[in-house]
Amino acid sequence: MTETPKGKKNVLLYNLIFVVVGLGLFLFLWFAPEETTPRLPHDDTHEKFHEIVDKKEAEKSCGDCHSDDGVAPLPDGHPPKYRCLFCHKRDQ
Ligand code: HEC
Ligand code: HEC
Repeated sequence: MTETPKGKKNVLLYNLIFVVVGLGLFLFLWFAPEETTPRLPHDDTHEKFHEIVDKKEAEKSCGDCHSDDGVAPLPDGHPPKYRCLFCHKRDQ
C-alpha cells in the first residue's frame, strides 16, 4: 500500500474545502438576522394555548379567530399556515 503524493495532496485539498465550507456555514448562521416572526402573545386570548402541552392540540383553535371570517384574519402574504406554533413560538 503506497499512496502517490498526488493522492495525498487531493485528500488535503478536500479536507481544506470541507473546513472552509463548514466555517462559511457557521459564520452565515452566526450572523443570520434575528428571528422576526411574532411569538404567540401572552394575553387573555392566547394564555390558554401556552398551557396546552400538545402543539397540535393547541393549534386546533387558532383558525377560529385567525381566518378570513374570524376576528383577526391573517395578513396578506402570510406564509403557508400549517402548524402555527412551529413558526409562532411559545414561551419566552
Ligand atoms: C379567541 C380568538 C383568538 C384565538 C383562538 C387565537 N387568537 Fe391569536 N390573536 C387574536 C387577536 C384578536 C389578536 C390581535 C390582538 C392581540 O395581540 O391579542 C391576535 C394576535 C395574534 C398574533 C400576533 C401577535 C403579534 O405580536 O402581533 C399571533 C402570532 C397569534 N395571534 C397567534 C395565534 C395562534 C398560534 C393561535 C392558536 C394557538 C391563536 N393566535 C389563537 C385572537 C385569537
Ligand atoms: C411558516 C411559518 C408560519 C406558520 C406556519 C404560521 N405563521 Fe403566522 N406569521 C409568520 C410570519 C413570518 C409572520 C409575519 C408576516 C409579516 O410580517 O408580514 C406571521 C404573521 C402572523 C400574524 C400577524 C402578526 C402581526 O403582528 O400582524 C398572525 C395573527 C399569525 N401569523 C397567525 C398565525 C396562525 C393562527 C397560524 C396557524 C394557522 C400561523 N400564523 C402559521 C409565519 C408563520
